[in-house]
Formats: sequence, structure tokens, C-alpha cells
Amino acid sequence: MSTESVDRYYPGLEGVIANETAIANVEGKEGAGGLEYRGYSIEDLATGASYEETAFLLLHGDLPTSSQLREFDGRLRSSRTLPLPLVDLYRQIPSSIHPMDVLRTSVSVLSHYDPEVNAPPTDHAANVRKAERMIAQMATAVAYRERISKGLDLVAPREDLDHSANFLNMVNGQVPSETMRRAFDLSLVLYTEHELNASTFSARVTVSTLSDIYSGIVAAIGTLKGPLHGGANEEAWKVLEQVGSPENAESWIQDALARKERIMGFGHRVYKTGDPRARILKEYCTRLAAEVGDDRWERIAEPIEQAVTSQKNLPPNVDWPSARLYHYMNLDIELYTPIFAMARVAGWSAHVIEQLDHNRLMRPRARYIGPPNREIKPIEQR
Ligand code: CMC
Repeated sequence: MSTESVDRYYPGLEGVIANETAIANVEGKEGAGGLEYRGYSIEDLATGASYEETAFLLLHGDLPTSSQLREFDGRLRSSRTLPLPLVDLYRQIPSSIHPMDVLRTSVSVLSHYDPEVNAPPTDHAANVRKAERMIAQMATAVAYRERISKGLDLVAPREDLDHSANFLNMVNGQVPSETMRRAFDLSLVLYTEHELNASTFSARVTVSTLSDIYSGIVAAIGTLKGPLHGGANEEAWKVLEQVGSPENAESWIQDALARKERIMGFGHRVYKTGDPRARILKEYCTRLAAEVGDDRWERIAEPIEQAVTSQKNLPPNVDWPSARLYHYMNLDIELYTPIFAMARVAGWSAHVIEQLDHNRLMRPRARYIGPPNREIKPIEQR
């Protein structure tokens, strides 16, 4: 029996340091709160790096040189197609099934067709190659399933388009404007990594048993889906839709706060003074609203943001602006969380690889609060 004390209990693991990591830092400069990927601030990455460069940074440890980027991007572009049995499966899964559930199944199926399926789970180089294939294929998986569930013809991946433009083209059947492509790419950069959030933690727990990278990503997708985590971007859109018009916003939010409702897209376990990702994305929402010529959703969002921030001291998190951003791109609400997943797979993979490179089984303790020392009565006396 181990000797650790069960007196120290941290509900929700708040404040527990469960890992060392060189991937992301949410402390920011001098502990002031902020987000850095491998030492680079997201503010700098937002203006200075594409999703491909950021994914390379997470998986390979530093930003790529131009030749490294060319090769990495080439590998992604040539890995975008899906195994045919997976595409056939999309035709059989009922269209009512949520795309996040289908994405979870997709990654599991993709593992069966990975050319290195039998590589040892601790093979660092094979894991990086598997991660690269997942980054490329998950985007196609999300887009193909979306088109099939809507009864639309598939739009094949195009090797002449970058990751973001190709995804939007596969979903909408139209190459996006440069403003849309840029905003989408930025949202992927901001979604791609976030230290030991719940889904990353579950991926690390899974592979800490020396399970494989695909199992870790499947676990992470299942965890991300919940509305307190990645599912919040879909819920945030439902808030805006329920409010419906700028004129309703003030009374809607005051009623909701009076009823002590949880307002989705607000609050954060780590950031108590504001989520830096939300600040960056909000600016892009304004730009896209201008491009589509409809600022209604911005005028609905603003009074809600003001009220929740000032009255509850809960600033918006990344999921609040991203919901509007994806709406402006004509993306179905049920794609919002799968898009989060297809961005985050780079961060999840980096953490899985880091875990396996320095592994120790994750096995915490629980404090027992059930009845003690019970005796079994014969069944006829229970
Ligand atoms: N609206 C209203 N009240 C809230 C909210 C909210 N969004 N968030 C927290 N609270 C209240 C909560 O009701 C509780 O009040 P009381 O003490 O009176 O019972 C108090 O704040 C503490 O809540 P908690 O859930 O223990 O706090 P936490 O730090 O664990 O919460 C959170 C973090 C993200 C789960 C929570 O803020 C929340 O549920 N937000 C809405 C869902 C959401 O937007 N999730 C996305 C998170 S960020 C990006 C991502 O992972 O996708």
C-alpha cells in the first residue's frame, strides 16, 4: 500500500501540476497570463505563422526553415486522401449522428489503414509521421462526412491549396476569399494547442499505459466533445441564435444571469482575466462581418460580452468569437467542434509523443467516501 495522503484532494484537479511539458505555457510573460507555443507568443504566431508552420513547431520543436516547410507541407498535401472503406462507412452512418462522433470513429478506422500500424507505440519518428497523416486526413474526414450527410457530391482534396483553403473548398465547394482563408487559418493556429486541457490530459493518460497514438487521439476527441470543453463553440452559437436580435440581447442576458444560467463561451479554468485567443479572434469577427455585410451577430454578441464580463467577472473564452467566425464562413454549426479537433490534433500529438518519450504510468488516487467494512448477507436476507 502506498503511503501518500488522501487528505490533499483537488476537485477537478484544479491547480494540480501533473506533467512537465516543453510544448505550451499558459503563464505568459512573468506569470501575467498568456499563451506561448514552445516559447513563441500566440500574438506573434497569429501574425507570423500559418497553421502548417505552427503544426510543424509543435511536432518538430521549432519553426521550420523554408525547405523544412516545403517538405512538411508536401507530406501533408500528399496524405489528404482517405481509405475507401472509410468513405463507404460515411454512406452507412445515419446522417443524424453528430460529426464529432463520426470523427471519433474515423480516427479509429484510419489507424487500421496506417502504413506503420505495427510500429511500437514508443517509436518517436513513426509517431511524428502518424501525427502528420492524421493532421492531413482528419480535415478530409470532416469535410467528406459533411458533404455525404447533406447528400452532396464529394469535393476531392486539391494539392494546389494550403490546409485551410483546401478544407473550406472541400466543405463549401468553393475556394474561400483571402480574408476567409486567413481568418480560418488563424482560428486553427489558436485552437491547435493549450497545455494540459482536459482532452490533452486524456490523450496523455491513455498513452501512459503504452497504448498507441491513435488511441490517445480517439480518447481526446471523446473528451473534447463535451460542452464544457470544445463543444462550447457550438453552444455559444446556440446562445446567439436564441437571442436572435440586438434588441433582445440586454434583456436575454439579464434574465439568464438572474436564473444563474451557465453562459457558454464564457469563463475559463486557467485564464481569470481574459482568454488571449478570444481577444485576437474578436477582431477577425469584426472583419468578416464587414466582408459578409451583416454585423447583426456582432451587435448581439457585444452586450452579452459586456454583461457577463462586468457582472460575473467572466470574460469570453476562445469559443465565444469562434462560433461567429465559423458562421461567417457558411459552416454548419455541427462542424465547429470537429474543426477544433482537426486543429488540436497537432497539439494532442505533440503531447502524446512527449508523454511516450518520458513515460510514467498516470495512476492517481481517489479518496474513498463510501460505506466502510460491510459484511455480505446471504442473498435471501438483502
Ligand atoms: N456562466 C455562468 N457562470 C459560470 C460560468 C459561465 N460560463 N463559468 C463558471 N461559472 C460560475 C459557476 O456557475 C460557478 O458558480 P457558483 O460558485 O456560484 O456555483 C463558478 O463560476 C465556478 O464554476 P466552475 O465550473 O467550478 O469553474 P471552472 O473554473 O471549473 O470553470 C469552465 C471553467 C470553462 C468549465 C466554466 O467557466 C464554464 O462552464 N464555461 C462555459 C463552457 C465553456 O465556455 N467552455 C469552454 C472553455 S475554454 C475553451 C475550450 O476548452 O473549449
